Amino acid sequence: MMIGTCVLTHRREIFSSTPRMMLFFSFFLRVPVFQNRRHKCSRLSLFLSLFLLLFLFLCLCSKTKTGIAVAMVCAQRGYPCVICMAEPFSVERRKIMRMLGAKVIVTPKGGKGTGMVKKAEELAEKHGWFLTSQFENEANWKFHEKTTGQEILRDFNGKNLTHFVTGYGTGGTFHGVSKALKANRPDVKICLLEPSAAPLLASGTKTERKPSGAPVASHPAFTPHPVQGWTPDFIPLVLESGIDMKDELIPIDGPDAMQCAKDLASKEGIFTGISGGATFSGALKVAKSAPKGSSILCMLPDTSERYMSTPLYDQIQADMDESELEIAKSTPSFQLIPGQEPILQA
Ligand SMILES: Cc1ncc(COP(=O)(O)O)c(C=O)c1O
Repeated sequence: MMIGTCVLTHRREIFSSTPRMMLFFSFFLRVPVFQNRRHKCSRLSLFLSLFLLLFLFLCLCSKTKTGIAVAMVCAQRGYPCVICMAEPFSVERRKIMRMLGAKVIVTPKGGKGTGMVKKAEELAEKHGWFLTSQFENEANWKFHEKTTGQEILRDFNGKNLTHFVTGYGTGGTFHGVSKALKANRPDVKICLLEPSAAPLLASGTKTERKPSGAPVASHPAFTPHPVQGWTPDFIPLVLESGIDMKDELIPIDGPDAMQCAKDLASKEGIFTGISGGATFSGALKVAKSAPKGSSILCMLPDTSERYMSTPLYDQIQADMDESELEIAKSTPSFQLIPGQEPILQA
């Protein structure tokens, strides 16, 4: 059977704690959000919360999915939490974090990711708050090595696995999972993805750092891209410190990422966000040149619900379209037709 399209039948397999979808018997999707919010970033947050226990009562962080997970853990432990997040990230994220009791400080679009990080640093300095530093904190990748990486090893014990495909935001998933795989399954090829609009790694230009490892300035190869949560405008230290484990670097086009997220939803019932679509688009690219019998694992980090206010949903309307109105009119009762009196019982 052909590998390389995301349509056709799939078989759902529940390995250990994380559900995975297997498409065509050789495509594995890791879908951590199906774990009732105990997804990968929660693990990082849990680890960070141990630090918080020892230190202060206020936590501050600056990213999207990680921010949601940190807000969740802070709510559970009773820590006040302040999140800095740049304007372009979806409003759903702000609302989720506020629902979880966090304060969300929205930073201007023009400041990009580096602006968001600088604001977090400034606030932490001024108020004496604990800064999670997820782009530099080793706990990020170490926890992925201990959890996500070990889960994958367990699930593929005695099974074929030839490629692991992932994008990067902080690089925690890439670094931690790669570490576990290189130590135990050294033949697995690690395929790292980045947006073609922000080819930071591909450019070969390094990110200049402060002593803390945080970026000094915005990376010259960065331009805005639609894959929220991927590739900020600097190379995170967490990513860079594991970069030698990458076997292949693959560029991903924004429109392909969007299309893949839409296809996964409408043709496979897999409801993932833009970074999930981007990752799957990378897995398809890998599949095109992988030898027969390859077994490709990719992570879909996020659920689609967080993107309803973004271009991913541009063509999804709240009102009925023509074809839906036709269906509504095909029986006499309970019709809600624009410009007409609602019809109840015919
Ligand atoms: C939506 C989304 N996708 C992907 C990632 C990347 O994960 P990582 O930070 O482990 O590289 C993130 C990170 O927060 C994210 O928010």
